[in-house]
Amino acid sequence: MKHDIRKPWLMAIVALGLLTPALLPAQDGAAVAGNACAMCHQLTPDGDSAVPSLFDLAAEHAPFSAEQLQSLLQQPQHAVANSMVSEGDLQPLSDYLNELE
Ligand code: HEC
Repeated sequence: MKHDIRKPWLMAIVALGLLTPALLPAQDGAAVAGNACAMCHQLTPDGDSAVPSLFDLAAEHAPFSAEQLQSLLQQPQHAVANSMVSEGDLQPLSDYLNELE
């Protein structure tokens, strides 16, 4: 009897656990951008800075694919950023950038 009552809750908890990772990529992308891009590109709109903000770049270049980001990060000015972005970060990062525009 007890088991019959508790099982739906157990299933709900398991389902939540399975759904939660689907909500995380945008957050991960923001964290990646904060670590690897924000030291040079502001994350908010700003026409004044010497290096364009990621917001402006996203407005201009989005949508980015993971592949485009990978070749972008192979540009010489992106050597530092490239060393901070793993292959698994590329998709969440491009999702994040595509949401900025
Ligand atoms: C060490 C400083 C630095 C870091 C860190 C950096 N960038 Fe850049 N980025 C630059 C410079 C400098 C340019 C060239 C700006 C220009 O052309 O006026 C640039 C250009 C760009 C462009 C435009 C490229 C083009 O071909 O027009 C994009 C998009 C971009 N960066 C994205 C990123 C992303 C995403 C990250 C983080 C993963 C990042 N950058 C990290 C310095 C940096």
